[in-house]
Formats: sequence, C-alpha cells, structure tokens
Amino acid sequence: MARFTNRELSTRTLEDFGEFFANVHGCACTLYFLGKHLPQPVAGTARERAAILGAPDRSRKRFPHQELRRARELAVVTELVKQKKADGILVYADGEPVGWCQYGRSGEVWKINCFTTRMDYRRQGVATRALAAAVAAIEKRGGGRIESSPMVFPHYDPMLPKLRRTFGWRSAEVAEYIADNWPSRELPGIGKANACQTSNKTMAHMGTMSMFEKLGFEVVGLDEKRSSDDPRYPWTFVVMRLDLDPRAPRDRAGPSGLRR
Ligand SMILES: CC(C)(COP(=O)(O)OP(=O)(O)OC[C@H]1O[C@@H](n2cnc3c(N)ncnc32)[C@H](O)[C@@H]1OP(=O)(O)O)[C@@H](O)C(=O)NCCC(=O)NCCS
Repeated sequence: MARFTNRELSTRTLEDFGEFFANVHGCACTLYFLGKHLPQPVAGTARERAAILGAPDRSRKRFPHQELRRARELAVVTELVKQKKADGILVYADGEPVGWCQYGRSGEVWKINCFTTRMDYRRQGVATRALAAAVAAIEKRGGGRIESSPMVFPHYDPMLPKLRRTFGWRSAEVAEYIADNWPSRELPGIGKANACQTSNKTMAHMGTMSMFEKLGFEVVGLDEKRSSDDPRYPWTFVVMRLDLDPRAPRDRAGPSGLRR
C-alpha cells in the first residue's frame, strides 16, 4: 500500500504539478483558474495543424499538438502561482504526484471545483484526501464559506455504453433504458435526484456528495446549471456548503477531517 501525503500548489511544487498533468488527461485546470479554457494553440483543421506541427508519431505516442497545449497551460499556471493567484492540492503516493484538487476564491466564497486522480491510483481515496487537504488549507487562511457542486451519487452501468453503441446516443432506446433502470434517491429539499453515470475507473471531476458529507458539508440546493432533465443523461448535481469558522470549537476531528 502506497504512503499518501499532500502539499499545496506553490512555486515549490510547480514541477510536481507539471509532472502530474503530463500523466493525466484533461486541462491543467486552466478552466477553473481562468474561468475558461485556453484558446486552441494552433487554429485550423487537423490537416493544417499537422502541417505546422508535423504528423503525430503514433508509434511513440507523441502528439505535438497536445504537448504544445500542455506547455501553454503550464506557462499560464506558473505565472498565476508566482502571483499567488492559483490554489490547489497535490496528493503524492510514495513521493510521486498522483492526485489533484483545484479550489479558489470567488468573491466572498471559496469554491472547490475540480478533482483529478492518476488512473492507476483511482478508487483508493486520493480525491477524498485531496478534498480534506483543500478544506484544511482554506481553514488555515481564515476559513469562511466553502461551496462545491458534486454529483448526488455515482452509478456504473456497463449496459448503457453498449446501448449507445448499438442504437446511438440520441436514440429512443437509450432514453427508455435510462427511464426504466436509472437509480435515484429522494433528497430532502430537492426531491428525486438521479445518479450520475461513471465508468468502472472514472467519474466526473466534481466528485460525489458522499466525499463532502464526510467533512460536514450540507446540501443547500440543486445545481441547476449542471443538472439535466434530458432523458438521455438526467444526472443530478447539488450545491453543497460548509461554513468554516476556525475559531469555533469542534467536537470531532475537525472539518478538515484530519486530526492535528
Ligand atoms: C473524480 C476522480 C478524481 C475520483 O478520484 P478517486 O481518487 O478515484 O476518488 P476516491 O477514491 O477518493 O473516491 C471518492 C468517492 O467516489 C467513489 N468513486 C470513485 N470513483 C468511482 C467510480 N468510477 N464509480 C463509482 N464510484 C466511484 C468512491 O467509492 C468514493 O465514494 P465514498 O465517498 O462513498 O466512499 C477520478 O475518477 C478522476 O480523476 N476522474 C476524471 C476527472 C477529470 O476528468 N478531471 C479532469 C478535468 S479537466
């Protein structure tokens, strides 16, 4: 079993941040640091890009377009970190960066936005640990209101991708299967809340309600932007909140979940 540790994103851990994002898919959190993804580094069609960058050497799994995009993302994040405008937690397994949680302040409210765990370390509590460390880091800076928008609960159903492949994403068969089979639960103040689709190893980057409940977060409403009524993916997301007053005495391990 690996020994997990965590550190905050800073100029001292930037190299680890780069190493982590070289080994996972997804953007290097520029979406949440900037409020938008970076524009595509090389505009135009795949053919035009290949002419500029050279054709990808698939035998060596080298994709120059991706490398260029990642280099630009890291350059932007480096600048933000130097200006102390980028917050996040890296989780390490025996010293190697394997997990990430992005958080940041939006006006008066802290937001915990994104989790990513390296594929070979998923389902071992890495994201849960990153969340606890993010809450602890916020607490260290004076606490305040923290919000996040996780899925209500995950559900893996191997039949769904099969039906999508056979009948198509927009098919009536897919919508009917979901209507008849998709799990849901009643949430006080929300009503019927549907599970969110996952695969065996991967779930969406916002995490689950259960992760946040362990730290004392409570549901305060439906996340209307993320939740969908579309019968092909009627997944439910909620807004969860923790009001963290670091001066208040606590009768348990603390909202950070970490005994100090
Ligand atoms: C979301 C993600 C970070 C979860 O990481 P993780 O380290 O595996 O999560 P944990 O082991 O801490 O599990 C947290 C909870 O989710 C559950 N869970 C995790 N993966 C799951 C899956 N694939 N299916 C069902 N449940 C899952 C765990 O059982 C646990 O539940 P509990 O709180 O009830 O015990 C990971 O799936 C991931 O990296 N997904 C890709 C996210 C992404 O695209 N990021 C880039 C955005 S640009």
